[in-house]
Amino acid sequence: MIKIEFGNSFVTDAVVDINYVKVVPQTQLPEFIAVNQGENFSISYGMKKKDIVFGLGENVGGMNKRGGIYESFCFDEFNHTPDKKSLYAAHNLIIVDGERKFGLFIDHPGKVRFDVGFTDIDTLEISMENPNFNLYIITGNSLKEIVKKFRKAIGISYIPPKWAFGFQQSRWSYPDMTSITEIADKFRNSQIPCDTIYMDIDYMDNYKNFTIDKAKFPEFSEFVKFIKNKGFRLIPIIDAGCKKEKGYDISDEGIENGYYCLDKDGKPFVGAVWPGHVYFPDFMNSKVRTWFGDKYKILIDQGIEGFWNDMNEPAIFYSEGGIKKAFEKIKSMEGKNIGVDLYFQMKDTMEGISHSIEDYKSFYHNVDGELINHYDLHNLYGYNMTRAAGESFVKNYPDKRILLFSRASYVGMHRYGGIWTGDNKSWWEHLLLNIKMMPSINMLGFLYSGADVGGFGCDASAELVIRWTQFGVFTPLLRNHTTLGTRAQEPFAFDVESTDIFRSAINLRYALIPYIYSEFMKAAKESECYFKSLAYEFSDDISRRVEDQVLVGDSVMLAPIYTPNTFSRNVWMPEDMLLWKVGDYTDFNYSLHPKGHHFIDIELDEIPLFIRKNKILVIGNHSHNIDSIDQSEITVIAYVQDLATYRLYNDDGVTTNYMNGDYTELDITIKIQEDSKPQVLTNLSENSIIKKINYLIVNSKGQLFKL
Ligand code: NOJ
Repeated sequence: MIKIEFGNSFVTDAVVDINYVKVVPQTQLPEFIAVNQGENFSISYGMKKKDIVFGLGENVGGMNKRGGIYESFCFDEFNHTPDKKSLYAAHNLIIVDGERKFGLFIDHPGKVRFDVGFTDIDTLEISMENPNFNLYIITGNSLKEIVKKFRKAIGISYIPPKWAFGFQQSRWSYPDMTSITEIADKFRNSQIPCDTIYMDIDYMDNYKNFTIDKAKFPEFSEFVKFIKNKGFRLIPIIDAGCKKEKGYDISDEGIENGYYCLDKDGKPFVGAVWPGHVYFPDFMNSKVRTWFGDKYKILIDQGIEGFWNDMNEPAIFYSEGGIKKAFEKIKSMEGKNIGVDLYFQMKDTMEGISHSIEDYKSFYHNVDGELINHYDLHNLYGYNMTRAAGESFVKNYPDKRILLFSRASYVGMHRYGGIWTGDNKSWWEHLLLNIKMMPSINMLGFLYSGADVGGFGCDASAELVIRWTQFGVFTPLLRNHTTLGTRAQEPFAFDVESTDIFRSAINLRYALIPYIYSEFMKAAKESECYFKSLAYEFSDDISRRVEDQVLVGDSVMLAPIYTPNTFSRNVWMPEDMLLWKVGDYTDFNYSLHPKGHHFIDIELDEIPLFIRKNKILVIGNHSHNIDSIDQSEITVIAYVQDLATYRLYNDDGVTTNYMNGDYTELDITIKIQEDSKPQVLTNLSENSIIKKINYLIVNSKGQLFKL
């Protein structure tokens, strides 16, 4: 991986392991990349017809980004329509996979635009308004090799506690003790496993970070214990903006110490979010990160073990200056005959007050005494908010894993927390977007990730939530979340038949924990991806272009259903595969399919799970939550033509002891010679928590061996 510096770039701390990086002068820029010093600074590459372009993490578009324009500019975008150029993240890695294979990582905290053959069909053009950036060029023989090199340089991905792999339930909002208790009881009564319940903004006292509304939660720490006794953890939201209010300690302390972003006159910048006027902590300043990060302790001391950081692009409903101007403009229209021009001016004026570029350009960060305009560092804000929390957790609770994920992100933040993909909608298109996005997000190191299952905005049908949950079974972060005023979409919110289907799908998720956790941890430790496009492992032309199937870990391929009233679909199998249509996971039914195109029937209550040739899947048993899973028995399901090996990773799931080698690796080898009984070899030791291993091994003729 080479690094070429252009101008004087801001240090983002995205790349941390310089052993993987060789700094070279601009004169050594590879000849296939052109630099254009026009009005906007840009670099370009002439794409070949067959080049596929991967990357860009959280964004609309496909796994192959060709034909679109994308912008890295973290934005509170609650309408993820296909024309949108930016969502909440700035994930500036793009990989060209063709005859020539290389990745480009643009380490630049401002806006970056990727025109991937939109303006000119064969030109990839990456442009920046501000020409100060570091360009990393990563070469390799495959997509996988390039991603791996990049990931090694950016450092190990965040690792959550194991319980965060359980099913999670959220809604804006379950605002008080009664509603949360009701949700918890409904999960247990309907025998649907669940590990966490989320607390959205209404738990706070007037939307003030790190406070609790005493009327809704008179004894908060007692309540946290009460819910934990039922087997759930509560996960509160934290917002970037802090209410401006005399007497509110966070507001006062921040002002006294100069911890908030400043306006052009050196006064604390005031924007507005949920509580009205707020200040924005200057997360670019390490002292502020320590101060804000330590505030999470207030809730941790009351029993909280996880957080989600929101509105940290940062979202700004309006600024004091912005709204003043808007009112003046609207006032000037009063009494006039409002025709087409004025009508649109009026509409645009009001819409334009939110998340406005003018506002982003109007405030400053104090970076080591130097004031830097926010607009130039915009994409680092959410990253550094989450870093504040992550750094403080490591300092204050070095042995404990705390759940943390964020809405906005930049490369580097993947070391401190995961991400969720923001305000999607209960649209089938957004289920497909979720499927396409997961491999791209993984390439950027955001392994602990997922979308709002069932969709955040709009009312959801039972069928949509079922199909989405069936895909979500495989996403590390599996959280059902919806907004204010929408139809209930918890797994028990529909009819009895749907509840049964949800129960089976979520039971499967819990049974799959040995595999999911093992694959996640190995991906993190080995700079690998947990979710992969087929192109990641297979180099044939068809696999490289498949957009609606994904690989999960080393052994499994998914081909989810993502359209309504659909009970069959085409599936490309890049090699011979074993298909298990999972309804009740204790019922192992299977069919073998040779490499090729297949049309497969899939009922609403079935999850098609494809096990790769000579690969092994390990499942356990479900329970009502992760902590209570009986880990003493596992079942090895394998499709073996001749030889399959698997390494099952496990650790205590709650401490950071795995970093000091405190983990187990169970090696499983299965050999088959012609039709004979499989030979199984493991390194299972007497003191392992696993006491019993069942085997379901299918050979190339489709014979099942139960051992
Ligand atoms: C925006 C977030 O994206 C959403 O998940 C949350 O429910 C609302 N903010 C309210 O906090």
